[in-house]
Amino acid sequence: MGDEVLANLKHESQVFPPDEEFAAQANATAALYDEAEADRDGFWAAQAERLHWETKWSRVLDWSDAPFAKWFVGGRLNVAYNCVDRHVEDGHGDQVAIHWVGEPGDTRDITYAELKDDVSRAANALASLGLSAGDRVAVQLPMIPEAIVSMLACARLGLVHSVVFGGFSPAALRSRVEDAAARVVITSDGQYRRGKAAPMKANVDEALAGAETVEHVVVVRRAGIETPWTEGRDLWWHELVDAQSAEHTPEAFDSEHPLFILYTSGTTGRPKGILHTSGGYLTQVAYTHDVVFDHKPGQDVYWCTADIGWVTGHSYIVYGPLANRATQVVYEGTPNTPDEGRHWEIVQSKKVSIYYTAPTLIRTFMKWGDQIPASYDLSSLRVLGSVGEPINPEAWLWYRENIGAGRLPVVDTWWQTETGGIMISPLPGVTAAKPGSAQRALPGIGAKVVDQTGAEVPHGSGGYLVLDKPWPGMLRGIWGDEERYRDTYWSRFGDLGFYFAGDGAKYDDDGDVWLLGRVDDVMNVSGHRISTTEVESALVSHPTVAEAAVVGASDPTTGQGIVAFVILRGGVAEGEARGEEAIGALRDHVAKEIGPIAKPRQIMVVPELPKTRSGKIMRRLLRDVAENREVGDVTTLADSSVMDLISSGLKGGG
Ligand code: WTA
Repeated sequence: MGDEVLANLKHESQVFPPDEEFAAQANATAALYDEAEADRDGFWAAQAERLHWETKWSRVLDWSDAPFAKWFVGGRLNVAYNCVDRHVEDGHGDQVAIHWVGEPGDTRDITYAELKDDVSRAANALASLGLSAGDRVAVQLPMIPEAIVSMLACARLGLVHSVVFGGFSPAALRSRVEDAAARVVITSDGQYRRGKAAPMKANVDEALAGAETVEHVVVVRRAGIETPWTEGRDLWWHELVDAQSAEHTPEAFDSEHPLFILYTSGTTGRPKGILHTSGGYLTQVAYTHDVVFDHKPGQDVYWCTADIGWVTGHSYIVYGPLANRATQVVYEGTPNTPDEGRHWEIVQSKKVSIYYTAPTLIRTFMKWGDQIPASYDLSSLRVLGSVGEPINPEAWLWYRENIGAGRLPVVDTWWQTETGGIMISPLPGVTAAKPGSAQRALPGIGAKVVDQTGAEVPHGSGGYLVLDKPWPGMLRGIWGDEERYRDTYWSRFGDLGFYFAGDGAKYDDDGDVWLLGRVDDVMNVSGHRISTTEVESALVSHPTVAEAAVVGASDPTTGQGIVAFVILRGGVAEGEARGEEAIGALRDHVAKEIGPIAKPRQIMVVPELPKTRSGKIMRRLLRDVAENREVGDVTTLADSSVMDLISSGLKGGG
């Protein structure tokens, strides 16, 4: 089919009906939509039966204290037991849970029986430090098995983990540790990145200087590099954990017991600690991992390329797949180490059958060239997934054609840190797929596109995406900030009770949903959420900067790129501060304050910023400049000549 099919596909209306053979064996059926619609609570109750409950719930949902939900009220379970022990008890102890692939080429296969021992030892170790249910543990680790073991050990003890992406700066780690008042931090000596061992523990030390709540730092030896040490506080993982017993009896916790906090960017500078709890979350991630990826335990080899520092890693590397007894690949490194065929070499050698990645990486693969995947045997693959940002139809088609042999189902999954699990996605074997559309809310999920007033828009129109029914994996709040939770997500549409996602979306003529990107001041760079305010605060914390405005400008590879406009402080020589070196120093400063992912692609020194009379920066106009467009309507500016000043200044100053 190849070329001919591609030639026909250039427009959005192209539809790929499911393959009959695939449909015949699919986990999902069209009937699920009707079942869920007819009896939503009953539907979710049936999904919760996927788990082992020590005590069964008495009520599916208590929404009386909205927007604070309680799911599976009265139920008790142990999340780690559900992800590990029960598979061993069911006779699958010898099944590989994790095919781990290190960046330098070292590998480890870990069976469910071994995982159970590892998690039990780690749980005994954390308990020996005096931690008890409800305490917070921060985890900053590379993609090594100990990362997953740490999370599961916390879950086993009812400890609340807060995983912090390995690329975040000491300042970012510090604010997260402080906000959650973590008692223990788990990290490693270093991490491999593009063939080099980079220090990690040294950054953690910098973050923790004077952090009063932290009693211990547990350090995994990964890179074998020299490591600064604080006697009494710091403990080697291999000394602390390896000596423990592999016996540990899991205790059941309430369905609403906190499972983790994960910080994400919002519209203000301060990251929000998104809180997730146990029973509802695990139900939703297990259900979605099953139906969206058509996962077959014991047969499939699943690979989600995310990092555990993001929600995708939490829900679709750790909790969903392990609850469903997956055999999965976990890869430590970058996709071009040692060369650009690394992912396909892993797919080929591990016989990966389900592959879940982000559009930014798909576009990077496109750039690297079709010949790279073409030189590997990818015939083990049967389902492809995408997450993190809108996938453009070209990338979708390239993915299906070049990775999916022109026939595999591609599922574009929309969800958020806040939603816990996938919300909008095609179902493989059921949905006739449209390139670039996430299409339809999953059975059991309520989503709508509405206008300013909250009224649903007609087919063919756009508006705001809202979730109009509570769902089991929903966030239960923002850590320590009830008001901010209500304001951010539930106030926009007044009494209608809609959760405002922050995304724009449209219905096509068939009523399928197309995501259009964020409508707030959150940027999406390579699938990472970064707030404009966060980068602005980092910039103004530099001694040469008086004011800064940041926008996300569209970028062919990363989705959006960060473009910053800065006004220098009086007394700073403009010529000097515009120099390449000075701009480089500003970019590095942002990387140091937040992390390398937040480094602006471009920084422009300007004499003024466009503001409304009430002082609000008009980012829309700056986006026009950043994307080299004619500048739009300036009539609401306090001083309409500002844009001329900016444009001419940029031309003059280069
Ligand atoms: C965006 C990642 C379009 C969206 C799981 C959302 C998407 C934000 C998609 C959440 C998709 C995620 N299509 N946009 N399939 N998936 N997004 O919290 O803007 O890191 O609000 O969760 O990513 O990002 P987060």
